[in-house]
Amino acid sequence: MKPADQAPGRFITLEGIDGAGKSTHLAAIQAWLQARGHEVVSTREPGGTPLAESLRDLVLHRPMDPLTEALLVFAARRDHLQQVIGPALARGAWVLCDRFTDASFAYQGAGRGFDLALLAQLEDWVQQGRQPDLTLWFDAPAATAAARRAAVREPDRFEAQDEAFFGRVNAGYAARAAADPARFVRIDAAAGREVVWRGVQAALQARWPGGDAA
Ligand code: TYD
Repeated sequence: MKPADQAPGRFITLEGIDGAGKSTHLAAIQAWLQARGHEVVSTREPGGTPLAESLRDLVLHRPMDPLTEALLVFAARRDHLQQVIGPALARGAWVLCDRFTDASFAYQGAGRGFDLALLAQLEDWVQQGRQPDLTLWFDAPAATAAARRAAVREPDRFEAQDEAFFGRVNAGYAARAAADPARFVRIDAAAGREVVWRGVQAALQARWPGGDAA
């Protein structure tokens, strides 16, 4: 058994294209878990530590080639795993992370066309077997997400991409979900907020009946 599998905490990631609405549900999931008595660490990628947040700022706003982008995202992930995620899981906390490695396969891989085998190598090096216990994939059509994004702030380097890019990112998430169906739950994020939240609750309840770490 890999050391990561022995950690007493639980690791949940939220994924989906920009504008799918996943971040809206993060606080509600945190409250749902806390109500069941868990310590919850809510965090995000790229980011989650001072160093990784600095790398996030570069990745989101500076032009760079795809290899540099992939290396920076995984460098941020390494620091995040070592400083925050690993220690939290080791002490039994539940970690709720807004994006993780599936985003690298979806954005750098499917979106930008970066070498998937190289991404898989980086994943192995950086994570050493650690994978989320559950990934909630908020799946919304590229056009729906674009309309939601239009209402918000100045776009970053990813948000500024066209609909075709987000169509590829969606396909990238679908491929990751198909490769690991036990880990993924697809949430239909085109529905209204209440319906989406019920889907999220159902997924959590199905995975951990009673909310405990069974
Ligand atoms: P996002 O999570 O959408 O945060 P916010 O809602 O504050 O904008 O932004 C992070 C962006 O980084 C998003 O567009 C996807 C991108 N990203 C990657 O390209 N690769 C990755 O591995 C990760 C974690 C994120």
